[in-house]
Amino acid sequence: MTAFENKKVFVKTYGCQMNVYDSDRMSDALATKGYSPTDVMDDADLVILNTCHIREKAAEKVYSELGRIRQLKERRAKDGKGEMKIGIAGCVAQAEGQEIIRRAPIVDLVVGPQAYHKLPELLDRTGNGSSVVETDFPVEDKFAALPAAKREVTRKRGVSSFLTVQEGCDKFCTFCVVPYTRGAEMSRPVSQIVAEAERLAEAGVREVTLLGQNVNAYHGEGPDGKDWGLGQLLFRLAEIDGLDRLRYTTSHPRDMDDVLMAAHRDLDIVMPYLHLPVQSGSDKILAAMNRQHSYDDYVRLIERIRTARPDIALSGDFIVGFPGETEADFKDTMRIVREVTYASAYSFKYSPRPGTPAADSKEQVEEAVKSERLQRLQLLLTEQQRAFNASKVGTEMTVLLERKGREPGQLVGKSPWLQAVQVDAPEELIGEIVTVTIDTVGTNSLFGSMIDKPA
Ligand code: 5AD
Ligand code: SF4
Repeated sequence: MTAFENKKVFVKTYGCQMNVYDSDRMSDALATKGYSPTDVMDDADLVILNTCHIREKAAEKVYSELGRIRQLKERRAKDGKGEMKIGIAGCVAQAEGQEIIRRAPIVDLVVGPQAYHKLPELLDRTGNGSSVVETDFPVEDKFAALPAAKREVTRKRGVSSFLTVQEGCDKFCTFCVVPYTRGAEMSRPVSQIVAEAERLAEAGVREVTLLGQNVNAYHGEGPDGKDWGLGQLLFRLAEIDGLDRLRYTTSHPRDMDDVLMAAHRDLDIVMPYLHLPVQSGSDKILAAMNRQHSYDDYVRLIERIRTARPDIALSGDFIVGFPGETEADFKDTMRIVREVTYASAYSFKYSPRPGTPAADSKEQVEEAVKSERLQRLQLLLTEQQRAFNASKVGTEMTVLLERKGREPGQLVGKSPWLQAVQVDAPEELIGEIVTVTIDTVGTNSLFGSMIDKPA
């Protein structure tokens, strides 16, 4: 028996998919201390904000959320419901550290992403006014030390799951905080990943998305003692019984090697969708960003990928208003978008991140110019996304049914190209892959009719 029996934890997740994965793993670690998850912050004995530092005002958002939580914490104490502990995790925790406690003394625990396996022990050291900050990069294997979720917990989380295979980044793009907050690139060993994927499949997961800040730089130790790349890992995961779909994100154009291309070409289980950020179409800006490739390198790479897998859909990230970006540079970004054609994309105004090289540049672009460029770019990207979705009307595709839809009798699933698809289907088909004809396209999803139930 521990002192934490039957307590409740509320985890709020900001930012990327890796944070979603990490939040689950934190919950799993806390489950060993008797914590169960709650969706109601007011009921929580422990509130964790799993934060993101990638763009503007990340830290400020956390501080204003903490202002609201303070009132809750005080009300709970007044109502005699017991102490509400507050933890800050994620990349803001890593970047700000002790500063968080200084500015928000109600925080009990600040824990960086590399120390989540220590969460239960760190929590033991907090309370009654004493706070703990842990932002070191420990030598031990965090992933080996984190407990696995119970089978029924995994099942409840759904039929599509994330699995972190690689963390950190050595690329040092000059706009990006990731190499500082998540640290140097590290890859989990193949055996560990296979074991986790087998556990997921055994619990009913049909689709796994491999995660990493630079996932295609994956180079984990294989069972033969040699370093395996992401392509080799995909070939191995494809052998697992029960898994039907594999995806990975997010990739760097420099790390698309031949084995990875072959995986796209030869493995049906690898979904025909690739998130491959280019950030800018201007060679001058790409160089200033330290992306280590040119416009032409990227376009040639896309041609090779499309040769390997003709039905592949591409997605990307774009930054407008990077320091020194002129109208001509921006037009090159519009040009590469037209040349490549994306099925979906994320685009952002450049946001100077403290501690990154580009933040100190004297050539910052005016906010109004950034906004105007972003608008133009998003117009084009939305047009391309609409055209891609519309091109699926009248076609057949497989859909992994994931959860109940908005209307009764309706389920929502995912197409091979990551589109949401609404289908009239009974609830017991959740978790099944069915064949669907697409009838119409809405703003955010496709609507289809089931033509083939699973065998
Ligand atoms: N400003 C704007 N966008 C950024 N991104 C990363 N850092 C910044 C920044 N400082 C974007 C990139 C990256 C995505 C995850 O976030 O496009 O691919
Ligand atoms: Fe950041 Fe991605 Fe560049 Fe790494 S490759 S520094 S994570 S943008």
